[in-house]
Amino acid sequence: MKLDVDFVRAQFPAFAEPSLAGQAFFENAGGSYTCAPVLDRLSRFYRQRKVQPYGPYEASRLGGEEMDEARLRLAAMLGVAVDEVSFGPSTTQNTYVLAQAFARHLSPGDAIVVTNQDHEANSGPWRRLADAGIEVREWQIDPDNGHLDPAKLEQILDARVKLVCFPHCSNIVGEINDVEAIVNVIHSAGAFACVDGVSYAPHGLPDVDKLGADIYLFSSYKTYGPHQGIMVIRRELGMALPNQGHYFNSDTLYKRFTPAGPDHAQVAACAGMADYVDLLYQHHCGAGGDAHARSKSVHDLMRAHEVALAEPLLDYLGAKNSLRLIGPQKASARAPTIAVELPRNAGDVAAALAGHGIMAGGGDFYAVRLLKALGIDPDKGVLRLSFVHYTTPGEIDQLIGALEQVL
Ligand SMILES: Cc1ncc(COP(=O)(O)O)c(C=O)c1O
Repeated sequence: MKLDVDFVRAQFPAFAEPSLAGQAFFENAGGSYTCAPVLDRLSRFYRQRKVQPYGPYEASRLGGEEMDEARLRLAAMLGVAVDEVSFGPSTTQNTYVLAQAFARHLSPGDAIVVTNQDHEANSGPWRRLADAGIEVREWQIDPDNGHLDPAKLEQILDARVKLVCFPHCSNIVGEINDVEAIVNVIHSAGAFACVDGVSYAPHGLPDVDKLGADIYLFSSYKTYGPHQGIMVIRRELGMALPNQGHYFNSDTLYKRFTPAGPDHAQVAACAGMADYVDLLYQHHCGAGGDAHARSKSVHDLMRAHEVALAEPLLDYLGAKNSLRLIGPQKASARAPTIAVELPRNAGDVAAALAGHGIMAGGGDFYAVRLLKALGIDPDKGVLRLSFVHYTTPGEIDQLIGALEQVL
Protein backbone atom coordinates (compact mmCIF):
# COMPACT_ATOMS: atom_id res chain seq x y z
CA MET A 1 0.00 0.00 0.00
CA LYS A 2 1.45 3.36 -1.09
CA LEU A 3 0.56 6.75 0.24
CA ASP A 4 -1.79 8.63 -2.10
CA VAL A 5 -0.05 12.01 -2.06
CA ASP A 6 -2.75 13.71 -4.16
CA PHE A 7 -5.30 12.74 -1.53
CA VAL A 8 -2.95 13.89 1.23
CA ARG A 9 -2.40 17.30 -0.38
CA ALA A 10 -6.12 17.78 -0.91
CA GLN A 11 -6.43 17.87 2.92
CA PHE A 12 -4.14 20.93 3.17
CA PRO A 13 -5.52 24.32 2.09
CA ALA A 14 -1.92 25.59 1.73
CA PHE A 15 -1.55 23.53 -1.44
CA ALA A 16 -4.51 25.36 -3.02
CA GLU A 17 -3.29 28.76 -1.88
CA PRO A 18 -2.32 30.91 -4.90
CA SER A 19 0.30 32.89 -2.95
CA LEU A 20 2.19 29.67 -2.23
CA ALA A 21 1.91 28.16 -5.71
CA GLY A 22 5.18 26.94 -7.21
CA GLN A 23 7.02 27.13 -3.92
CA ALA A 24 8.28 23.90 -2.42
CA PHE A 25 8.25 23.80 1.35
CA PHE A 26 11.40 22.40 2.98
CA GLU A 27 11.23 23.96 6.46
CA ASN A 28 8.69 21.54 7.87
CA ALA A 29 10.84 20.77 10.91
CA GLY A 30 10.19 24.36 11.95
CA GLY A 31 6.42 23.90 11.65
CA SER A 32 4.18 22.07 9.19
CA TYR A 33 1.24 23.23 7.13
CA THR A 34 -2.07 22.82 8.96
CA CYS A 35 -4.59 20.23 7.80
CA ALA A 36 -8.16 21.21 6.92
CA PRO A 37 -9.90 19.37 9.79
CA VAL A 38 -7.85 21.39 12.28
CA LEU A 39 -8.56 24.67 10.52
CA ASP A 40 -12.27 23.83 10.33
CA ARG A 41 -12.46 23.04 14.03
CA LEU A 42 -10.48 26.15 14.96
CA SER A 43 -12.75 28.35 12.91
CA ARG A 44 -15.90 26.65 14.26
CA PHE A 45 -14.67 27.06 17.84
CA TYR A 46 -14.05 30.79 17.40
CA ARG A 47 -17.38 31.31 15.62
CA GLN A 48 -19.66 29.08 17.67
CA ARG A 49 -18.01 27.94 20.91
CA LYS A 50 -15.79 30.78 22.09
CA VAL A 51 -17.18 30.89 25.61
CA GLN A 52 -15.86 29.53 28.89
CA PRO A 53 -16.04 25.74 28.39
CA TYR A 54 -17.67 23.11 30.65
CA GLY A 55 -20.63 25.31 31.53
CA PRO A 56 -24.33 24.32 31.48
CA TYR A 57 -25.27 26.11 28.23
CA GLU A 58 -25.01 24.53 24.79
CA ALA A 59 -22.05 26.46 23.30
CA SER A 60 -20.03 25.91 26.47
CA ARG A 61 -20.89 22.22 26.71
CA LEU A 62 -19.87 21.68 23.07
CA GLY A 63 -16.59 23.54 23.59
CA GLY A 64 -15.68 21.47 26.63
CA GLU A 65 -16.67 18.23 24.93
CA GLU A 66 -14.47 19.07 21.97
CA MET A 67 -11.48 19.71 24.25
CA ASP A 68 -12.07 16.35 25.93
CA GLU A 69 -12.44 14.71 22.54
CA ALA A 70 -8.99 15.95 21.50
CA ARG A 71 -7.33 14.45 24.57
CA LEU A 72 -9.28 11.22 24.37
CA ARG A 73 -8.66 10.55 20.67
CA LEU A 74 -4.98 11.51 20.72
CA ALA A 75 -4.37 9.40 23.84
CA ALA A 76 -5.95 6.42 22.08
CA MET A 77 -3.73 6.94 19.04
CA LEU A 78 -0.58 7.26 21.17
CA GLY A 79 -1.54 4.16 23.15
CA VAL A 80 -1.76 5.82 26.57
CA ALA A 81 -4.50 6.61 29.12
CA VAL A 82 -6.65 9.68 28.52
CA ASP A 83 -5.42 11.59 31.57
CA GLU A 84 -1.78 10.90 30.71
CA VAL A 85 -2.03 13.45 27.87
CA SER A 86 -1.90 17.16 28.60
CA PHE A 87 -1.65 20.30 26.52
CA GLY A 88 0.62 23.25 27.19
CA PRO A 89 1.60 26.34 25.20
CA SER A 90 4.73 24.75 23.71
CA THR A 91 7.18 21.96 24.33
CA THR A 92 9.71 24.45 25.71
CA GLN A 93 7.20 25.66 28.28
CA ASN A 94 6.19 22.10 29.09
CA THR A 95 9.78 21.07 29.84
CA TYR A 96 10.22 24.24 31.87
CA VAL A 97 7.28 23.31 34.11
CA LEU A 98 8.45 19.71 34.37
CA ALA A 99 11.91 20.88 35.39
CA GLN A 100 10.35 22.98 38.17
CA ALA A 101 8.62 19.84 39.41
CA PHE A 102 11.83 17.79 39.30
CA ALA A 103 13.70 20.55 41.14
CA ARG A 104 11.42 19.88 44.10
CA HIS A 105 11.28 16.12 43.64
CA LEU A 106 15.03 15.48 43.50
CA SER A 107 17.52 16.02 46.32
CA PRO A 108 21.00 17.51 46.28
CA GLY A 109 23.38 14.70 45.35
CA ASP A 110 20.94 13.17 42.84
CA ALA A 111 22.03 13.30 39.21
CA ILE A 112 20.33 13.71 35.83
CA VAL A 113 21.60 13.09 32.31
CA VAL A 114 21.09 15.43 29.36
CA THR A 115 22.58 15.24 25.86
CA ASN A 116 24.32 17.66 23.59
CA GLN A 117 22.24 16.36 20.67
CA ASP A 118 19.00 17.96 21.87
CA HIS A 119 17.23 21.16 20.87
CA GLU A 120 17.68 23.60 23.77
CA ALA A 121 14.08 22.96 24.86
CA ASN A 122 15.00 19.54 26.27
CA SER A 123 18.35 20.64 27.58
CA GLY A 124 18.52 24.12 29.13
CA PRO A 125 15.59 23.78 31.57
CA TRP A 126 17.06 20.52 32.88
CA ARG A 127 20.62 21.85 33.11
CA ARG A 128 19.33 24.60 35.42
CA LEU A 129 18.62 21.91 38.03
CA ALA A 130 22.32 22.33 38.86
CA ASP A 131 21.19 25.47 40.74
CA ALA A 132 19.22 23.15 43.06
CA GLY A 133 22.30 21.04 43.81
CA ILE A 134 21.54 18.35 41.22
CA GLU A 135 24.52 16.93 39.35
CA VAL A 136 24.06 17.29 35.59
CA ARG A 137 25.87 14.75 33.41
CA GLU A 138 26.13 15.05 29.64
CA TRP A 139 25.66 12.14 27.25
CA GLN A 140 27.77 13.34 24.35
CA ILE A 141 27.50 12.80 20.63
CA ASP A 142 30.21 11.51 18.34
CA PRO A 143 31.63 14.82 17.05
CA ASP A 144 32.15 13.37 13.56
CA ASN A 145 28.55 12.47 12.79
CA GLY A 146 26.32 13.53 15.68
CA HIS A 147 25.46 9.95 16.68
CA LEU A 148 24.41 9.26 20.28
CA ASP A 149 25.93 5.94 21.30
CA PRO A 150 23.84 4.12 23.96
CA ALA A 151 27.03 2.43 25.24
CA LYS A 152 28.25 5.87 26.32
CA LEU A 153 25.05 6.41 28.27
CA GLU A 154 25.62 3.16 30.16
CA GLN A 155 29.05 4.44 31.20
CA ILE A 156 27.56 7.49 32.95
CA LEU A 157 24.54 5.81 34.54
CA ASP A 158 24.64 4.83 38.20
CA ALA A 159 22.30 4.70 41.18
CA ARG A 160 22.45 8.49 41.63
CA VAL A 161 20.92 9.16 38.21
CA LYS A 162 17.18 9.74 38.57
CA LEU A 163 16.29 11.12 35.14
CA VAL A 164 17.65 10.90 31.59
CA CYS A 165 16.47 13.41 28.94
CA PHE A 166 17.18 12.68 25.28
CA PRO A 167 15.61 13.18 21.86
CA HIS A 168 13.73 10.63 19.78
CA CYS A 169 15.36 12.38 16.86
CA SER A 170 17.46 15.54 16.77
CA ASN A 171 16.23 18.47 14.69
CA ILE A 172 19.66 18.61 13.00
CA VAL A 173 21.16 15.10 13.02
CA GLY A 174 17.88 13.46 11.99
CA GLU A 175 18.99 10.02 13.18
CA ILE A 176 16.21 8.08 14.87
CA ASN A 177 17.42 7.05 18.30
CA ASP A 178 16.33 3.60 19.45
CA VAL A 179 14.08 4.94 22.19
CA GLU A 180 12.73 1.58 23.29
CA ALA A 181 16.19 0.09 23.86
CA ILE A 182 17.52 3.25 25.51
CA VAL A 183 14.52 3.49 27.84
CA ASN A 184 15.10 -0.13 28.89
CA VAL A 185 18.67 0.73 29.87
CA ILE A 186 17.47 3.82 31.77
CA HIS A 187 14.76 1.90 33.63
CA SER A 188 17.18 -0.89 34.52
CA ALA A 189 19.36 1.77 36.15
CA GLY A 190 16.34 2.94 38.17
CA ALA A 191 15.89 6.30 36.42
CA PHE A 192 13.01 7.93 34.55
CA ALA A 193 13.20 8.73 30.82
CA CYS A 194 12.04 12.00 29.26
CA VAL A 195 11.98 11.92 25.46
CA ASP A 196 11.70 14.93 23.15
CA GLY A 197 9.65 13.60 20.24
CA VAL A 198 9.18 16.97 18.53
CA SER A 199 11.30 16.06 15.51
CA TYR A 200 9.92 12.55 15.24
CA ALA A 201 6.14 12.90 15.68
CA PRO A 202 5.52 14.76 12.37
CA HIS A 203 6.61 11.62 10.56
CA GLY A 204 3.84 9.54 12.07
CA LEU A 205 2.41 9.65 15.58
CA PRO A 206 4.60 7.45 17.80
CA ASP A 207 3.48 4.39 19.71
CA VAL A 208 4.28 5.99 23.05
CA ASP A 209 3.20 2.96 25.04
CA LYS A 210 5.66 0.71 23.18
CA LEU A 211 8.50 3.24 23.40
CA GLY A 212 8.13 3.07 27.18
CA ALA A 213 9.25 6.61 28.07
CA ASP A 214 7.87 8.12 31.29
CA ILE A 215 7.56 11.50 29.57
CA TYR A 216 7.10 11.97 25.82
CA LEU A 217 6.79 15.47 24.36
CA PHE A 218 5.90 16.86 20.95
CA SER A 219 4.54 20.04 19.37
CA SER A 220 1.27 19.93 17.45
CA TYR A 221 2.16 22.86 15.20
CA LYS A 222 4.61 20.46 13.59
CA THR A 223 2.11 17.59 13.39
CA TYR A 224 -0.41 19.41 11.15
CA GLY A 225 -2.23 20.97 14.08
CA PRO A 226 -2.47 24.24 16.02
CA HIS A 227 0.29 25.79 18.14
CA GLN A 228 0.35 23.60 21.22
CA GLY A 229 2.85 21.47 23.12
CA ILE A 230 1.55 17.98 23.85
CA MET A 231 3.01 15.95 26.68
CA VAL A 232 2.45 12.43 27.79
CA ILE A 233 3.33 11.79 31.42
CA ARG A 234 2.80 8.26 32.57
CA ARG A 235 0.73 8.01 35.71
CA GLU A 236 3.32 6.64 38.14
CA LEU A 237 5.70 9.55 37.56
CA GLY A 238 2.98 12.18 37.07
CA MET A 239 1.39 11.47 40.43
CA ALA A 240 4.76 11.22 42.21
CA LEU A 241 6.07 14.59 41.00
CA PRO A 242 4.84 17.63 42.94
CA ASN A 243 1.76 19.24 41.40
CA GLN A 244 2.54 22.44 39.45
CA GLY A 245 -1.10 23.43 38.90
CA HIS A 246 -3.76 24.83 41.23
CA TYR A 247 -3.79 22.88 44.50
CA PHE A 248 -7.47 21.90 44.15
CA ASN A 249 -6.73 20.24 40.77
CA SER A 250 -3.98 18.01 42.08
CA ASP A 251 -5.99 14.78 41.74
CA THR A 252 -6.37 15.30 38.00
CA LEU A 253 -3.21 14.09 36.29
CA TYR A 254 -3.66 16.13 33.10
CA LYS A 255 -3.92 19.36 35.11
CA ARG A 256 -0.85 18.84 37.28
CA PHE A 257 1.76 20.24 34.85
CA THR A 258 -0.22 22.97 33.09
CA PRO A 259 -0.35 25.83 35.58
CA ALA A 260 -2.35 28.25 33.44
CA GLY A 261 -5.77 27.89 31.85
CA PRO A 262 -5.26 26.21 28.45
CA ASP A 263 -5.89 27.73 25.03
CA HIS A 264 -9.38 26.25 24.68
CA ALA A 265 -9.76 26.71 20.93
CA GLN A 266 -6.39 25.22 20.12
CA VAL A 267 -6.84 22.26 22.44
CA ALA A 268 -10.23 21.57 20.82
CA ALA A 269 -8.74 21.93 17.33
CA CYS A 270 -6.17 19.24 18.16
CA ALA A 271 -9.03 16.76 17.63
CA GLY A 272 -8.62 17.68 13.95
CA MET A 273 -5.25 15.91 13.97
CA ALA A 274 -7.06 12.72 14.92
CA ASP A 275 -9.63 13.41 12.16
CA TYR A 276 -6.75 13.71 9.72
CA VAL A 277 -5.15 10.42 10.76
CA ASP A 278 -8.54 8.73 10.45
CA LEU A 279 -9.14 10.28 7.02
CA LEU A 280 -5.82 8.89 5.79
CA TYR A 281 -6.56 5.52 7.31
CA GLN A 282 -10.01 5.30 5.79
CA HIS A 283 -8.79 6.32 2.35
CA HIS A 284 -5.95 3.79 2.30
CA CYS A 285 -7.17 0.95 4.49
CA GLY A 286 -10.97 1.25 4.72
CA ALA A 287 -13.03 1.12 7.89
CA GLY A 288 -12.19 -0.60 11.16
CA GLY A 289 -9.32 -1.06 13.55
CA ASP A 290 -8.94 0.64 16.89
CA ALA A 291 -7.44 4.12 17.08
CA HIS A 292 -4.01 2.87 18.14
CA ALA A 293 -3.86 0.41 15.23
CA ARG A 294 -5.12 3.04 12.76
CA SER A 295 -2.47 5.49 13.90
CA LYS A 296 0.29 2.88 13.54
CA SER A 297 -0.83 2.06 9.98
CA VAL A 298 -0.85 5.74 9.02
CA HIS A 299 2.58 6.16 10.63
CA ASP A 300 3.95 3.34 8.47
CA LEU A 301 2.37 4.77 5.29
CA MET A 302 3.92 8.18 5.95
CA ARG A 303 7.27 6.71 6.83
CA ALA A 304 7.54 4.53 3.70
CA HIS A 305 6.74 7.52 1.48
CA GLU A 306 9.28 9.74 3.22
CA VAL A 307 12.06 7.15 3.12
CA ALA A 308 11.57 6.65 -0.63
CA LEU A 309 11.74 10.42 -1.17
CA ALA A 310 14.76 10.94 1.07
CA GLU A 311 16.94 8.39 -0.76
CA PRO A 312 17.71 10.42 -3.93
CA LEU A 313 18.22 13.61 -1.92
CA LEU A 314 20.62 11.90 0.50
CA ASP A 315 22.49 10.27 -2.41
CA TYR A 316 22.81 13.67 -4.08
CA LEU A 317 24.01 15.44 -0.93
CA GLY A 318 26.29 12.57 0.11
CA ALA A 319 28.10 12.70 -3.24
CA LYS A 320 28.91 16.41 -2.99
CA ASN A 321 32.43 17.07 -1.72
CA SER A 322 31.67 20.74 -1.09
CA LEU A 323 29.35 20.02 1.82
CA ARG A 324 29.14 17.94 4.97
CA LEU A 325 25.99 15.91 5.41
CA ILE A 326 25.09 15.66 9.11
CA GLY A 327 23.72 12.34 10.33
CA PRO A 328 23.15 9.05 8.51
CA GLN A 329 23.13 8.85 4.72
CA LYS A 330 20.79 5.84 4.96
CA ALA A 331 17.21 7.09 4.66
CA SER A 332 15.74 4.32 6.81
CA ALA A 333 17.95 5.32 9.76
CA ARG A 334 16.69 8.87 9.92
CA ALA A 335 13.85 11.33 9.60
CA PRO A 336 13.86 13.50 6.47
CA THR A 337 15.21 16.44 8.48
CA ILE A 338 18.46 16.84 6.61
CA ALA A 339 21.09 19.37 7.62
CA VAL A 340 24.31 20.15 5.77
CA GLU A 341 27.32 22.26 6.63
CA LEU A 342 28.51 24.46 3.76
CA PRO A 343 31.65 26.50 3.21
CA ARG A 344 29.57 29.68 3.51
CA ASN A 345 26.82 31.09 5.70
CA ALA A 346 23.81 28.77 5.63
CA GLY A 347 21.31 31.62 5.93
CA ASP A 348 22.69 33.17 2.74
CA VAL A 349 22.29 29.88 0.90
CA ALA A 350 18.70 29.53 2.15
CA ALA A 351 17.99 33.07 0.89
CA ALA A 352 19.44 32.13 -2.51
CA LEU A 353 17.24 29.01 -2.59
CA ALA A 354 14.15 31.18 -1.99
CA GLY A 355 14.85 32.73 -5.39
CA HIS A 356 14.36 29.26 -6.87
CA GLY A 357 11.03 28.63 -5.16
CA ILE A 358 12.50 26.67 -2.25
CA MET A 359 11.37 27.54 1.26
CA ALA A 360 14.19 26.37 3.54
CA GLY A 361 16.17 27.79 6.43
CA GLY A 362 19.71 28.23 7.63
CA GLY A 363 20.97 28.79 11.17
CA ASP A 364 21.47 26.97 14.47
CA PHE A 365 17.82 25.94 14.94
CA TYR A 366 18.24 26.29 18.71
CA ALA A 367 20.68 23.38 18.73
CA VAL A 368 23.67 25.56 19.54
CA ARG A 369 25.33 23.01 21.82
CA LEU A 370 25.05 20.38 19.09
CA LEU A 371 26.54 22.58 16.38
CA LYS A 372 29.45 23.47 18.65
CA ALA A 373 30.02 19.78 19.45
CA LEU A 374 30.05 19.04 15.72
CA GLY A 375 32.69 21.75 15.26
CA ILE A 376 30.31 24.04 13.36
CA ASP A 377 30.24 27.76 14.06
CA PRO A 378 26.60 28.46 15.10
CA ASP A 379 26.81 31.86 13.37
CA LYS A 380 27.57 30.15 10.08
CA GLY A 381 24.94 27.55 10.87
CA VAL A 382 23.64 24.66 8.81
CA LEU A 383 21.26 24.57 5.88
CA ARG A 384 18.26 22.46 6.86
CA LEU A 385 16.09 20.74 4.27
CA SER A 386 13.17 19.09 6.02
CA PHE A 387 10.14 17.51 4.49
CA VAL A 388 7.19 15.34 5.48
CA HIS A 389 4.67 12.96 3.92
CA TYR A 390 2.91 15.60 1.81
CA THR A 391 6.09 16.31 -0.14
CA THR A 392 6.19 15.01 -3.74
CA PRO A 393 8.99 13.53 -5.90
CA GLY A 394 8.58 16.62 -8.11
CA GLU A 395 9.42 18.88 -5.18
CA ILE A 396 12.53 16.81 -4.40
CA ASP A 397 13.59 17.28 -8.06
CA GLN A 398 12.90 21.01 -7.76
CA LEU A 399 15.07 21.14 -4.63
CA ILE A 400 17.97 19.25 -6.23
CA GLY A 401 17.74 21.50 -9.31
CA ALA A 402 17.85 24.60 -7.11
CA LEU A 403 20.79 23.25 -5.08
CA GLU A 404 22.66 22.65 -8.35
CA GLN A 405 22.23 26.34 -9.18
CA VAL A 406 23.04 27.71 -5.75
CA LEU A 407 25.80 25.54 -4.28
C1 LIG B 1 13.52 18.85 18.48
C2 LIG B 1 12.79 20.02 19.06
N1 LIG B 1 12.49 20.01 20.35
C3 LIG B 1 11.81 21.01 20.94
C4 LIG B 1 11.41 22.11 20.20
C5 LIG B 1 10.67 23.20 20.90
O1 LIG B 1 9.32 23.12 20.63
P1 LIG B 1 8.36 24.36 20.97
O2 LIG B 1 8.54 25.34 19.87
O3 LIG B 1 6.99 23.73 20.99
O4 LIG B 1 8.77 24.91 22.28
C6 LIG B 1 11.69 22.17 18.84
C7 LIG B 1 11.27 23.33 18.06
O5 LIG B 1 11.70 23.58 16.97
C8 LIG B 1 12.40 21.11 18.25
O6 LIG B 1 12.72 21.10 16.96
